[in-house]
Order: sequence, then structure tokens, then C-alpha cells
Amino acid sequence: MTITPRGSLYGTIAVPGDKSITHRALILNALAEGVCTLRRYCRGEDCLNTMRALQALGVRIDETKDELQIHGKGLWGLAESAGVIDCGNSGTGIRLLTGLLAGQDFFSVLTGDASIRRRPMGRVVKPLREMGATIAGRKGGELAPLAVSGTTLHAIAYASPGASAQVKSSLLLAALFAKGTTQLTEPQLSRDHTERMFAFFGLPLVRKGLTLTIEGRPSVGWGAAPQLTVPGDFSAAAFFIVGATILPGSDVTITGVGINPTRTGLLDVLDRMGGDIELLNRREEAGEPVADIHVRSAPLHGVTIGADLIPQTIDEFPILCVAAAVAEGQTVITGADELRVKESDRIATMSTELRAMGARVSETADGMAIQGLGQPGENGGLQPANGRSHEDHRVAMSLAIGGLTAPAESVVHDTECIETSFPNFHACLLQLTGAVSEPQKGHVKP
Ligand code: S3P
Repeated sequence: MTITPRGSLYGTIAVPGDKSITHRALILNALAEGVCTLRRYCRGEDCLNTMRALQALGVRIDETKDELQIHGKGLWGLAESAGVIDCGNSGTGIRLLTGLLAGQDFFSVLTGDASIRRRPMGRVVKPLREMGATIAGRKGGELAPLAVSGTTLHAIAYASPGASAQVKSSLLLAALFAKGTTQLTEPQLSRDHTERMFAFFGLPLVRKGLTLTIEGRPSVGWGAAPQLTVPGDFSAAAFFIVGATILPGSDVTITGVGINPTRTGLLDVLDRMGGDIELLNRREEAGEPVADIHVRSAPLHGVTIGADLIPQTIDEFPILCVAAAVAEGQTVITGADELRVKESDRIATMSTELRAMGARVSETADGMAIQGLGQPGENGGLQPANGRSHEDHRVAMSLAIGGLTAPAESVVHDTECIETSFPNFHACLLQLTGAVSEPQKGHVKP
């Protein structure tokens, strides 16, 4: 992707539907009774792979560009897939589906691309085995491919060592098929989309502080949501929230974005850095809070980000590093070792790529320190990139935004990975930089 800096960002866009919520809406409607029309779903490859997995498990899903029709099979209606289930690049896909499939009465094999086959699966395999699951995999089940021999599960009480929504959601899905009452506790609240969607469907999930309790094998199923509209993805909006903040003279509105507080740590961090962001027209969609996000550029200063802010900011660190690189002063991130096991080792990949753009970054085991270069303009901003995505969609998009702060054109290589979450990223970027011809101006559809 070639990035041509054109000064500020200006205009109104909509981003794709939320990736996390789309995975969950696909799975829970597949287990429901009746037909759901899913609107504004995320058409990124990650979610399409979960859709294909469910189709391989016998669920009829009709696809158009704008909506999906999911024909629910009921709680016990899934059937064995004749082939291997390929989750592509999606950690959420493989971990949630492993939980879903552990308690079925058939055999499944799950795998993914090279990045997925390097990422830790023991975090779901271990507690699922405690529930009685029979799962084999490379390195004793630590790495995919995973072979799941579906069996009768029993409830457990499990204290998760990390705040992970993928682990929590995998276990909640398994718990639906387990005998007895499962109890899960996490050390900090991770994104709560699964809990909200369980509540939306009337499933008897109880939260007390950081502990969730769910009765397995509900005697009555749940009806599909006749129509469900997925909120816009905050993690997609994040690239333009930061872009509009750091490019002087910018004024951008992103409509219909999910603002679930377990996701919006970036807003708190930018607020502390001096950002100018307002949330307008607040409303609710599918049990999730939604707003239009209005961003005006503002000079930023460095801050300290500790472990308490990690779960709600976890996917935004690559773009936050770009903000820190053009702030005044130092930003220090600690307690973020989870970044090392994402689609790439994001501490290493962002440090390498930003350094190549002139940023002053030092890596630590669980974070980084970034000495800001100051606002783009005469003396600040990054240098043009000749960067690589490391096959990580969020690194690719972060470097593209970083490139806009440089005095000349940048190139980011291997940007096909952007397809995993944000297929129309480039179109949105062109829209806001004013590089689209007049008739297309005004609104980019998700
Ligand atoms: C996700 C949870 C987070 C996040 C990922 C999506 C989800 O991962 O980083 O992009 O949809 O549950 P962890 O659960 O590993 O923190």
C-alpha cells in the first residue's frame, strides 16, 4: 500500500461491523431456533472463516454483501464436519470454536494459518480438559492443529490466570453443553460481548463481580434474533481516531461505533494525552452501547500506561504506539506482555517498524518506552516508511496512519492481511484524505 500524505483528515465515515461481536452473533444464532438476519456484519476473513466453519458443521447461512441469514439448528443441532476446520488468522475463531466443539458428540479438527499455528492454545485446552474434553494437538495441545473428540463435559469452577475474552468465551460455550453449573473468574474484566449476547438471548448467565455462573444444558433453547445489527468496530475506528488526532487540522466523524467500556481504553488514554474526542448520539444496538465519534486534531503529550488499562486497550496498542511516537515527551507501556502472542509479537514488530520511521522506541519484556517526536509539521512526525506488516493487520493499518505524518510518500508491504478485519480500510482512508472523486464523497459504506 502506498501512502501519500495530504495534510489533515476530514469527513464522515462508517467502519465495518465489530469483528468480536460478529463471531459471537454467528455462533449463538447457529445454536438458536429460527432464522436471524445479521446486518452490518464484519466481512473480514476472520469472521468469514467462522461462518464457513459453521456451514461445515451443518448450519445453513445465506450470504449477501450487506447481510447474512443464519438458519439456527438449535442447541444440539450441529453435525460433524467432513473436513478440517480452517480458522485462518483468527485467534477468536479457533478458541471459541474449540470450546463449542468440545462437548459435541462428534470429532473435529481445527487449524489456521502459520500465525495461528504459533499462537498459544493451552489457555483454552487446559481448562476444557478439566471439563472432561478430549483434545490432542502439537506440543501436548499447546499448538494447533487441534483434534477434538467431542464428549460429555462436566461443569468446573475455573479461575483464569489472565484477562482473556477468548478463554472466557470458549469456556462459556463449552459450559452450555456441560452437565452442572460452571463458574468462571477472571483477574480483570476482559471484553464482555459474550455475556451481553447471552443476556440478549435470555440465557441464564449470572455475573457477580468478576465471577460468572452458568447452568449447562438449558432445557429450553432460545429463539434466533429476527434481526441483529452489529455495531461498528471500535478497533477499526481506532485507526481514524488516532489519525484525526495526530494530523493537524483534522475533523472526522465515525458513525455508529460500538463504545462498550471493555473496549474503549484508547479513548481514556487519548484523553489523558490531550486528545479532543466527543461521543455523540449515544444509543444501544444488540445489547451494546453505540455512538458517533467526533474527533478533532490536538497536540498530544506522553503518558504512562500500566496493567490496569491493558484489557480494554489490548488491540489498540499498535496504533497507540503511533500516537505516542508523535506526542511530546515519553510514553511508557508496562504489563502488556499479551501483545507478544497476538497476530504478531506486537511489541517487537511495532518497535522495529517505528524505529525504521525515525521513532525512538525501546522494548521491554512486557511493554515499551516511546520518546515522542512531536506533532507532524516542520520538525515533528515520522519519516516515510518502507515498512512490513509482519502479516499482522493492525500493524499494517497502524503503519499506514503513521505514514500520513511523514513529509513524503510511504510504502507498507504485505498489506493483504488487512482483509482479516477491515476490507475497506483503504477506501475509508482515501475518503478522509480527500483523494476520492466527488461522486463517491460523503459516505463510505461498511
Ligand atoms: C478477542 C479477545 C482479545 C482480542 C482479540 C479479540 C475476542 O483476545 O485481543 O482481538 O473477540 O474475544 P484475548 O482474549 O486473547 O485477550
